[in-house]
Amino acid sequence: MNSFDLAPPKILVVDDHPASRMTAVAILSVEGYEVLEADSGSSALESVSQGQPDLILLDVMMPEMDGFEVCCQLKQDEQTRLIPVIFITALNDRQARIRGIEAGGDDFLSKPFDRLELAARVKSLVRQKRLNEDLDHASQVLFSIARAVESRDPNTGDHCERLVNLSDAFGGYLNLSRPQRRDLMWGSYLHDIGKVGIPDAVLLKTGKLNPKEWEVMRQHVLIGERICQPLRTMRGVIPIVLHHHERWDGSGYPYQLVGEQIPYLAQVFQIIDIYDALTSDRPYKRALSQEEALKVLVAETNRGWRNPELVQQFINFINSTAIPATSLEGLGVRIEGLRARG
Ligand SMILES: [Fe+2]
Repeated sequence: MNSFDLAPPKILVVDDHPASRMTAVAILSVEGYEVLEADSGSSALESVSQGQPDLILLDVMMPEMDGFEVCCQLKQDEQTRLIPVIFITALNDRQARIRGIEAGGDDFLSKPFDRLELAARVKSLVRQKRLNEDLDHASQVLFSIARAVESRDPNTGDHCERLVNLSDAFGGYLNLSRPQRRDLMWGSYLHDIGKVGIPDAVLLKTGKLNPKEWEVMRQHVLIGERICQPLRTMRGVIPIVLHHHERWDGSGYPYQLVGEQIPYLAQVFQIIDIYDALTSDRPYKRALSQEEALKVLVAETNRGWRNPELVQQFINFINSTAIPATSLEGLGVRIEGLRARG
């Protein structure tokens, strides 16, 4: 559903008191909305999954599952988090409003309803929701392009899917914030989206690329940036798309950034990207073992290409997973940058 939809928006009214429920239903029906009703928290959740409402009018005080709990569940679910929730509270119930904000509620109304106020708030939130959905759809188009790029590139296989899982796990290990983890995961999907603009003759070439072809290939990060630029939701993803080929010592591209000039999430992503590429089968090479891959990563770090501290954290992370433990000593290698820092 988006802002071009002509169907009337669907509002779910949740209240265990039939009388106040009917008042809201009557007002909203007159305003032209399709109205669904639920008389408890659990029936509200059921109704949301079946009816996909555009907005929920949610009573706070209900037996068993109260409104806050319902709202928390909806806001944690990827499928329902964009549905605006208006809490119905008693007049001047400050405590309930604070809890409502914490639960992720979008707005508040007091009983008895002011008809005009109810209509105005509902209208504004429904419009906002549909705009958000348009944005979400635009993001989805990018993901589709990224998948198309991946399927066109015979070298990657299901690289992106694995990267997303690894990003989520390493992001959690690094205690990244929720938005950072989201950006890292989205970046994993979208980092090579700019390859959509690279001609087949270069992208699909089986032999080595000549200098001119490399120049063309390097453009993919700039093309990717341009593709993502217009989308506000991609703001945190763009640094990954643009800088995932920079190197710690400034020998990367496109801007030869050095050290911490490279956006942090791009540094994190690079390590995941390289590790996954090394441990995966490709048409031209077999997958390396975990130890072999970490050795290559450490060697690259000692050449100056990666952030030594972050690589050490990544090795610790791999060691902490269910995969058999390895240690730097066990690998017979050491990260020189780390030793230098003591
Ligand atoms: Fe790339």
